This record gives sequence, structure tokens and C-alpha cells, in this order.
Amino acid sequence: MTMAALKTQNVAQLSYQGKTVDLPVYFGTDGPGVLDLQGLYSATGLFSFDPGYTSTASCRSEITYVDGDKGILLYRGYPIQQLAEQSDFMEVAYLLLYGNLPTSAQKDEFVQSINKHTLVHEQVSAFYRGFRRDAHPMAIMVGVVGALSSFYHDSLDIQDPEQRQIAALRLIAKMPTLAGMAYKYSIGQPFVYPQNHLSYSENLLNMMFSTPTAPYVVNPVWSKAIDRILILHADHEQNASTSTIRLAGSSGANPFACIAAGIAALWGPAHGGANEAVLRMLDEIGHVDRIPEFIQRAKDKNDPFRLMGFGHRVYKSYDPRAFVLRQTCHEIMGELGVKNNPALQLAMELERIALADEYFIEKKLYPNVDFYSGIIFKAMGIPVSMFTVLFAIARTVGWISQWKEMIADPMQKIGRPRQLYVGKAYRDYVPMEKRLEENQ
Ligand code: ACO
Repeated sequence: MTMAALKTQNVAQLSYQGKTVDLPVYFGTDGPGVLDLQGLYSATGLFSFDPGYTSTASCRSEITYVDGDKGILLYRGYPIQQLAEQSDFMEVAYLLLYGNLPTSAQKDEFVQSINKHTLVHEQVSAFYRGFRRDAHPMAIMVGVVGALSSFYHDSLDIQDPEQRQIAALRLIAKMPTLAGMAYKYSIGQPFVYPQNHLSYSENLLNMMFSTPTAPYVVNPVWSKAIDRILILHADHEQNASTSTIRLAGSSGANPFACIAAGIAALWGPAHGGANEAVLRMLDEIGHVDRIPEFIQRAKDKNDPFRLMGFGHRVYKSYDPRAFVLRQTCHEIMGELGVKNNPALQLAMELERIALADEYFIEKKLYPNVDFYSGIIFKAMGIPVSMFTVLFAIARTVGWISQWKEMIADPMQKIGRPRQLYVGKAYRDYVPMEKRLEENQ
């Protein structure tokens, strides 16, 4: 697959101190065009300055499209709602990796290839025993995923497309196994090996919840919900963790190390860690009567509290993933017979009050994907500390697809941003005896 060449017939002009520079403007398939600033520094001596990358396209990509104003999310052109309703996670993984939906034969072959790699090297289990029992599973995942690079030397040559392919399959296949092991370790139960007759999400649940002492039958409602959540979280263009992976990968680092870097970035509460934070927040609110107090705190500039699961850098309307999850949440509660689920009721009321509040309306703060995923996980008995791990399993597909795309892109170069230096100007070294406190 070749990346579309950048073509332009448009040029923007920037004038600065008597010099005028032509900046090409490129348009992709959809969405805003981009101003090519690559020649800016040589022409003007200026850098662009965009902390948080609010106006910066860091790469070109064919994988995922987000229109935050209209609430649209497309994987390879397909709307997320249709994929969530009609597809399954393995099919979506194939789509993100290779660009098209698989035929039946292609899908079978892909699933078989994934199944070939579900086991982790037996020695990996020794790593787990080095962690404290109360280690956060995300801390374990950052460590063990990075450590995979010390086990699979035959998929580290990033210049070899075949090795890149094997690394991608290995990562997608092994993430649920590693996650299941992280959970089992935290509760002191034996590790459960993957069972390749199970689907991807069934396997994940089996590795988390089965024990050697009793047969475990995966609840089909749960596995369907997990599968849907995995689809919804699989990719989201150049978010913080994906950009981290692209930056780490741009230096030529191996894919296992890059995915470990992505897991670290995902962990933060402003990103994937928000699903965990939503549940903790709902626990803290405790009762619908206390919602106004927390809404007030969220609006108070002097209070660092934010409504977790609300707001998004890109979505300025309802996050389409949250919309699907809201429905899924109701389906699950219905099918599991969990009537009047207190966390769900609290979440719905919080959403209702926030969406009617002038502050949230004006700032276009809507529920994001993390708002409902935590409630679903909680209803299934998945511990809060595993929420972000499940997100990482799903996002591994997007991460590795984006990493593969980047490595194969002839325009790829090491990511090396510059800065606006605001520190001390040049000064000479001061010997110790001449240092005055006020000079330091
Ligand atoms: N609660 C209260 N106020 C908020 C919230 C919130 N959740 N989110 C944003 N705001 C306010 C900010 O205080 C700011 O107000 P100001 O303009 O008066 O200063 C304004 O809305 C814009 O917020 P920014 O932080 O500048 O927006 P940014 O795009 O940088 O941040 C983010 C987006 C990090 C997601 C933010 O909305 C947030 O912290 N949300 C809560 C955490 C969360 O749910 N994260 C998950 C994101 S989805 C994901 O990663 C899968």
C-alpha cells in the first residue's frame, strides 16, 4: 500500500520583516487542510510554536479520521457505529492493519496467525514475580511489554517488512495474555494460559476469571460487550499515546519498546487513565444529591477538580464512541438483570445535569469514551485498576498500525521538535567562592 503523495495548488503567504515566504497548502481526503511549514525556518529564521499541538498535523495517515465538530469517527473510511454494531474486533484489527475489511478466508487466516502467537515465552512469567503484589497493572504492562523486546529477537529488524508484520501479530496476540497475567498476579491466583478455541475477548475474560478449581464458562453478553469496547478503543488518530509511539518509533526503536512507551502515555488521567478516574469520581460523589456540588467544583478555576470522562481535545460534540457505549451500557445492565445500577444512575444524572449547564455548553464539554466504559467494566466485575489495561489491549491494534504506516512512509524522519527558549542568556561559570545567593 502506498501513501498518497502530497499535492497542492494552493499557497499561503507569510510576510515577516520584509520577507515573504510561500507556504504550500495540502488537502487530504477530508478535514482541514494543512500549511506546510517545513520551509519556514530556512526562509524566515522562525519556528512554529504550538504547545499541545492544537493546530499541528504531525504526519499524514490513511488509517483513522475524526471530525470532532460533527462527532464522526471513521476507521479506514468505515463509521465507528457500523463497525461496533456489525463487525468484531479481529475484523477491525485486520481493517486497521491492512486497510480493507477481510474476506472470510483472509479473516480465518488472520485469526489463525494471531492464535499462533497468544502464548508468551514461559520465562516472561518470572518478570511478574519481581513486581510487588500491589503493583498497578499498568506499571506491570509498561515493564513486561518493553521486556518482550528481549525475547523476540527475530522481529526486531524494523527495516524488514516481514519482521514488522510478525511483531504486529505478536503484540496484538500477547496483550490479553500479559493483561490476564497482571490481574492474576495482583490477586495471587495462578496464571491462565490462552485457549485458542476461544475468541479474542472470550480468551481475555477466561484468562482473567477462570481458575484451576472450577470450570469457567464465558458469559456471551460480557464477551460481546468487551469485543465492542475493544472496537471502539482500537484507534483514534494522533492522540497522545499514538504520537508517543510515532515519536519513539521515529528514532528506530523496536516495536515492543514503542508500544511500552505508548502504554505509559495512555496511563495518565487526561488520556486512557480517565476511565479509572471516572469510577473513582462516581464513588466520591456517592449520591445524586451531591452532583451539583461536584459540578460547581468542576467549574471553579481555583479547584483542580475536573469532571472525569468529560471533554475532549478534538470532539466538540458528543463523542460517537460514548454514544455507542451508552447504549451498550443499558443493554448490558438489562441483560445482566442489573436494574437500577447505582453507578449508572449516578452517571446518567451527572451527564444530564452537566449537559444542561451553561459552563459545559459554552465550552462544548460532552461525555467522552471513558465516561461509560468504566461503568460497563464495573458491572462485569473487572477491577478498576484493569480498566486502562483493557484500553491498552484495544489500542495496541491502532498503535501498531500507525507504527507500521510510519516506518513504511518514505517521508518519515526522526521526530525532533524545537523550542522557544526562555531560560537564562549566556553567562560565564561562577566559581563557588564568588556565588551569591541572589545570583542563583
Ligand atoms: N471538567 C471541567 N472543565 C473542563 C473539563 C472537565 N472535564 N475539560 C475541559 N474543561 C475546561 C478547562 O478548564 C478549560 O477551561 P478554560 O478555557 O476556562 O481554561 C476548557 O474547558 C478547555 O480545556 P483544556 O484543558 O484547555 O482542553 P484540552 O483539549 O487541552 O483537554 C482533556 C482535553 C484533557 C480531555 C480535558 O477535557 C480533560 O481533562 N477531561 C477530563 C479527563 C478525561 O476525561 N480524559 C479522557 C479524554 S478521552 C481519551 O483520552 C480516551
